[in-house]
Amino acid sequence: MAQPQIPEMAAIILAAGKSTRMKSARSKVLHEIGGRSLLHHVLATCEEAKLSPQVVVTSPDGSDVRSAAEVFGAATAVQDPPLGTGHAVQAAQEALKSHEGDVAVLFGDTPLIEAATLAAMSSARRARADIVVLGFDADDPTPYGRLVMSTDGNLEKIVEAKDATETERAIGFVNSGVLLADAKQLFALLDNVTNDNAKGEYYLTDVIGLAREAGLTCTAIKCDEAEVLGVNSRSDLAAAEAAFQDKMRGRALGAGVTMVAPETVFFSYDTDLAADCWIGPNVVFGPGVTVASGATIKSFSHLEGATVGANADIGPYARLRPGADIQTSARIGNFVEIKKATIEPGAKVNHLSYIGDARVGPKANIGAGVITCNYDGFNKSLTEIGAGAFIGSNSSLVAPVKVADGAYIGSGSVITKAVEGDALALTRGPLKQIKGWAAKHRARNTKKSGD
Ligand code: UD1
Ligand code: CA
Repeated sequence: MAQPQIPEMAAIILAAGKSTRMKSARSKVLHEIGGRSLLHHVLATCEEAKLSPQVVVTSPDGSDVRSAAEVFGAATAVQDPPLGTGHAVQAAQEALKSHEGDVAVLFGDTPLIEAATLAAMSSARRARADIVVLGFDADDPTPYGRLVMSTDGNLEKIVEAKDATETERAIGFVNSGVLLADAKQLFALLDNVTNDNAKGEYYLTDVIGLAREAGLTCTAIKCDEAEVLGVNSRSDLAAAEAAFQDKMRGRALGAGVTMVAPETVFFSYDTDLAADCWIGPNVVFGPGVTVASGATIKSFSHLEGATVGANADIGPYARLRPGADIQTSARIGNFVEIKKATIEPGAKVNHLSYIGDARVGPKANIGAGVITCNYDGFNKSLTEIGAGAFIGSNSSLVAPVKVADGAYIGSGSVITKAVEGDALALTRGPLKQIKGWAAKHRARNTKKSGD
């Protein structure tokens, strides 16, 4: 038997409005939470919910937003000039002219919406309505469009705050802005929307009243207010970041990660922690981090673009930069910075080192204060350290250079040439001692100062 056809669903993401309250030279939707722009959060959710194609509507001067949309594979449309949310949706009509099926309208500045919620809207649409709106019970409904429901649970109209009567203003169930409808039907309804209202704008929300007049059914489903938090200012951005971090912490705990103080651990959108890793207080994960099972990340460590293998031990106070590949049971200690380097199984870099552009072989031991001198002011070069090699404290390895398996470097050496396997290499001036010098020096100076 043929599978039932799942209707195709497109997405229109509105991002043409002005964002003066951010006080920023950058477009609002390009500000980030969890290391990713608001726009990319929304597009990633659309992708997860299988909404395709995606059309991002921008203002004429939004070329940075259009580039960001294109990076994600979304189409773009320009709304010139921005005359309201209904007018913004119309700007996407041309880009969707060959689309048959539904379209979801989302806002670029509302980044926390979940794919599961879009799926629930889609089910409600198929079960019982021509148009589905996503609403929430607002703590403070003041700025929002009110959802006017009939006694039988249908949505009758949406009234914008500025146009609402006193009775309507008392309604606490409000519009998030997310709406789902058949694309052709939605565009047809929008043709009849006017700007005869308090703001003189073409409101998307007016399609509900028009749909009811045409005998169509509308409904609203409910989500948590936190999920549809809109970002209009820096304090909204901080609130969205906090809500996002809460979500990520909850997910990690649910996936079997131990966090001693989860409220002090910061995630990026793609942080990937396996079950049974242990994360101490005050750890920050930048984008691109994967941590395998059994690894320990101790306090005050900062990781970005790094891979941590099973049972590896990181920190406290470690910094793993992009390309750090810390393999099984390796150990990175305090005040150690690793960049673009492979630290192979069981190797140790325990204290105060910089290892960049390097390979450290299995079970090698890097003493305190060892530096790979990887940059000559023009080029970056590679340092290779073999299996089981021992690099004495405070040595400098001037790249390109290779220390072969099992070699031993005496403390304080500056290594500029290849060192053979199992050899001892050291570069030190001979130790000189002058007997009794210190005692004489003290005696001379004590007499002079009279102490
Ligand atoms: C809108 C809804 C309101 C809802 C609220 C939720 C309408 C008329 N009102 O109001 O019911 O409660 O969101 O936050 O839809 N945009 C454009 N082009 C425009 C105008 C806006 O692309 O011409 C974009 C904005 O960039 C933003 C989104 O649409 O992403 C919402 O616009 P905004 O002006 O903030 O709408 P609200 O007045 O808050
Ligand atoms: Ca708004």
